[in-house]
Amino acid sequence: AFEVDLKSKGASIAPDMWGLFFEDINFAADGGLYAEMIKNYSFEFPSPFMGWQRIQEQGAMGYHYTKPHLDESKNKKFLQMQRLNEEGVFGMSNAGFRGMAVKANANYRLTFMARIAKGENLSLKAQLAKGRNILADVNIEGLTRDWQEYEVMLTASETADQVNFKILLEGEGELDIDMISLFPEDTWKGRKRGLRKDIVQLLADMNPGFLRFPGGCIVEGFDLENRYQWKNTIGEMKDRGTMINRWNIEFAHRNAPDYFQSFGLGFFEYFQLAEDLGAEPLPILSCGLACQYNSGEIVPLDMLDEYVQDALDLIEFANGSVETAWGAKRAAMGHPEPFDLKYIGVGNENWGPQYIERADVFEKAIKSAYPEMIIVSTSGPSPDGHEFDYLWKELTARNAELIDEHYYKSPEWFLESARRYDNYDRNGPKVFAGEYAAHSTTEKDALKKNNWEAALSEAAFMTGLERNADIVRLASYAPLLAHVDGWQWAPDMIWFDNLGVYATPNYYVQKLFSTNPGTHTATITANGNTVAGEDGMYASATIDEKAKEIIFKIVNTNAEIRAFDIKFSGNVKGKNATWIELQSDQLDVAHSLKEPKKIAPEEKSVEIQKRVVKTELKPYSVNVFRVKL
Ligand code: AHR
Repeated sequence: AFEVDLKSKGASIAPDMWGLFFEDINFAADGGLYAEMIKNYSFEFPSPFMGWQRIQEQGAMGYHYTKPHLDESKNKKFLQMQRLNEEGVFGMSNAGFRGMAVKANANYRLTFMARIAKGENLSLKAQLAKGRNILADVNIEGLTRDWQEYEVMLTASETADQVNFKILLEGEGELDIDMISLFPEDTWKGRKRGLRKDIVQLLADMNPGFLRFPGGCIVEGFDLENRYQWKNTIGEMKDRGTMINRWNIEFAHRNAPDYFQSFGLGFFEYFQLAEDLGAEPLPILSCGLACQYNSGEIVPLDMLDEYVQDALDLIEFANGSVETAWGAKRAAMGHPEPFDLKYIGVGNENWGPQYIERADVFEKAIKSAYPEMIIVSTSGPSPDGHEFDYLWKELTARNAELIDEHYYKSPEWFLESARRYDNYDRNGPKVFAGEYAAHSTTEKDALKKNNWEAALSEAAFMTGLERNADIVRLASYAPLLAHVDGWQWAPDMIWFDNLGVYATPNYYVQKLFSTNPGTHTATITANGNTVAGEDGMYASATIDEKAKEIIFKIVNTNAEIRAFDIKFSGNVKGKNATWIELQSDQLDVAHSLKEPKKIAPEEKSVEIQKRVVKTELKPYSVNVFRVKL
């Protein structure tokens, strides 16, 4: 039998404990969450026509070039289309991010800037087409000799994937055109240049406590020049530029030579998303060390000022009044109220004395200007070995507040590590389990799937995180998003293509924890002992002081049913407990776009008789019980 101690209210659980890790990996931003449909919309990729193709049919004659803008913005180039005759069809087409998809009767907002360089009576036609089948068509007249911005709506006649966007020039002459952007009208909260509604909805449904951004290795970059610099990601699009993505890699199915960042999803949008989700924003910044797996480039300590200033300015951007320089920029983007930033991360998976020396400089500067800011330090890439121990020792000696631990390990490791935090020093730094995922060994190929074996072991491990919520303040699965036709890393919590999205079993595990958190730890035992692996069972309990409930989670990792009496140490209210069950008899079950819900939570009610709930916990099941106090 299990015993749930109703009077065992322990440590408070961080209200933001279960959160999200977002990184622009697997086309998670451009081509994913950020709903822009045109790849290389401003011709700023190093190959300026990547994503674009000239259309020249039925006797049409012409050329296309890029030319330089003469102003100071980061938008350096524009496209010139030259048409030498009026015959046939001439223009440019764009195939989007691993294709482009439209939905029947949905509206797509096209924006661009253009001017006539030569000729009279030039006009444009914008189309969405699948092969010869035109799904949307609009004419744009009234082009002038001065740069002007244009906005038109295209309505798709049917649902289709692998659609092309075409911009066709009609009349003889030369047209300059730039920033050709196409978004569904129906974005999250209906924002222009907004986010994909279906993906954000899945995130919102998790009620996440925090949103960590922008990564991951992406923070560091291949080298320092290509590190993530938040100041390049705010303001008008023409001032954001583009940059190669750290995950622009070339091998096998992970091939992504076309992976760049437009920064349309930039720091303002991340803060705004966190606010929409009711999540604490948690930005991570470069500490002056480029990805140590790549160039390993290091900024000398006496040249670190720019990096530290970026951190200080970011805090002002998030929290400063509109009277401050960076607060004013936030206000100019439409958010005069502060974003109430509480956490700031210094470095990602960095190691060695080089990290410690740089972290010291950041800490001194941040704490003297903003003593209330909570700094997240990194413990290096893996929880095993010397580097990890070294960094923990150094950071503990410095009274670090929160240390970011990452583990991508086998399901067995997750099961064996359910007691990982039982013996952490209660007076030492707190833990941010900032990236974790079980990498299943069931699959023989490289496509590590988000199967039930992985998700179940994560659930078992997470009972250990919850039991130790006095130490583990924050936790997030990683990575969050992946495009089914353009990923570099698996497993991932949510998968999508250009038309649809599905949540993995791992998502449902995360959601069970994040939507059933509790305010304080409580005790659930079996024969007086913590339940952390004995006989394949794992359990944790919490009290929710606001809802006046006791919540407990029991994971059965056995292949058979386990029957248990769950006894309460005192009286509970009501005659029934709510029982949410997530289960599969098969460990290798995974979801797909076609079969998105093979494993999904089922809610039922179970009788409480004389302070006892009788249960039969199914094989391979995650069970959450809620009981009124
Ligand atoms: O989540 C994928 C990568 O794993 C992250 O970018 C990095 O921090 C870790 O190594």
